[in-house]
Amino acid sequence: MIIKPVIVGWLRTNCYILGDEATKTCAIIDPGQKADQILAAVAELGYEVKLILLTHGHYDHVMAVPQIVKATGAKVYIHKKDQWLLECDEVLRYGTRAEGYTVPHIDGFLEDGQTIKLGELDIRVLHTPGHTAGCCVFLCGDAMFSGDTLFQECCGRTDLETGSLEDILKSLKRLAQLEGNYRVLPGHEGFSSLEYERQYNPYIREAMRR
Ligand SMILES: [Fe+2]
Repeated sequence: MIIKPVIVGWLRTNCYILGDEATKTCAIIDPGQKADQILAAVAELGYEVKLILLTHGHYDHVMAVPQIVKATGAKVYIHKKDQWLLECDEVLRYGTRAEGYTVPHIDGFLEDGQTIKLGELDIRVLHTPGHTAGCCVFLCGDAMFSGDTLFQECCGRTDLETGSLEDILKSLKRLAQLEGNYRVLPGHEGFSSLEYERQYNPYIREAMRR
C-alpha cells in the first residue's frame, strides 16, 4: 500500500492517492481542486486511477472530480445523502470557475460496512454523519482517511447544511472505539493517530463521556 497526499486549492484540502503496489492501481480520495496537480502526482507514481472516493460532497473535496474522470475513466463513489451537494450552488459556482466543473456521474453509493476492493487492498467504509449527513471515513490497512469528520485535536464544522453536533459526537465515539491504532489522515491540516486523538481530542473526549 502506498499513500501520497496532495494538498490542493485555496482551502488546502488534503487529497490522497491510495495505491495498491501489487497491481499498480490507485484510488483518489477527495480530489478537491487542481486536477492537473493530482494527475501529475499519479503519473509520477505510474499508477492507473480506478476509483474516486469522496468522504463527503463539499465543493472543496469534489471540484476536480469531472476532470479526473475525463482523464482516467475512474469510477466515482459517494454516500447517497451527499449526492445533492454535487449540484448545489457553491460547487457549481466555484467549480465552474476554477475547474470547468460539471456534475459528475455517480457509479456507486457508499454504504456503511461495505468493503471496496482496490487491487489487493480492502477499503472499509464507515458512514460517519455529523459534518454532513453523508460523511464517510475510509479504513485501509493502518490508515484512516477521516475526511472532515475527525481532524487533529478537532472535528469538522456541524453548522453547515445537514451538519449535526449530536451525530458527529456519535461518529467520533464510534471511531474512537475501533480496535487498535490507525494513522489519521484528515481532509485538512495535519496528520495524527487515533491513539493520540483518543487522548487529546476534546470532541472525542466529550463523545466518550456520553
Ligand atoms: Fe467539508
